[in-house]
Amino acid sequence: MDKKTQLLELKKQMEEDKSLPLREGAIQLVFGEGNSDAPIYFLGEAPGYWEDQKGRPFVGQAGKLLDELIQSIGFIREDVYISNVVRFRPPENRDPEPQEIAAFAPYVDKEITIINPKVIVTLGRFSMGKFLPGVKISQVHGKIKTAYWKGKEVTVIPMYHPAAALRASAIMTQLKEDFKVIPQILDKASQPKAEQLSLV
Ligand code: URA
Repeated sequence: MDKKTQLLELKKQMEEDKSLPLREGAIQLVFGEGNSDAPIYFLGEAPGYWEDQKGRPFVGQAGKLLDELIQSIGFIREDVYISNVVRFRPPENRDPEPQEIAAFAPYVDKEITIINPKVIVTLGRFSMGKFLPGVKISQVHGKIKTAYWKGKEVTVIPMYHPAAALRASAIMTQLKEDFKVIPQILDKASQPKAEQLSLV
């Protein structure tokens, strides 16, 4: 099965999984979207009002900023993959709870396995916590991290959430600055292992 078909199959499984939390209060499932061969996988928090209305991730104000940030590093939205740890809008946009994140996690894991990106960029503390539990975003944002995930090493760059940047100009400045590291990290992650070692 090709990647696009696998992703469609995964979406169907989620739509049919009645055990998933938050379904009752939401209009629809917001599955990930983008290039199934994306080098970069962006992982946000949960759908908000507009995402719930349209059934697509990051299409509100935070999404507009994310599009601009993606363009600032020479990509367009369609080149990358954008997703969330929770796939139904929490009531009143409240923070997702640990057991809600845990309920969606097997699907997030499967999605990442299918896409097999070179770099995972987490947006905000909830998606960061999946790979780097117990760390503070203020201490690690914009830094390249190696996480052990499902028995293998993955390259993770924790970033502030675009919605946080829209609320505070200091975070906006930092987020724009942090995005600049992505192309060089991608270059490095794309090189064969021997060459990577010589760069260390
Ligand atoms: N914030 C998120 O974390 N995800 C979205 O899809 C939109 C806003």
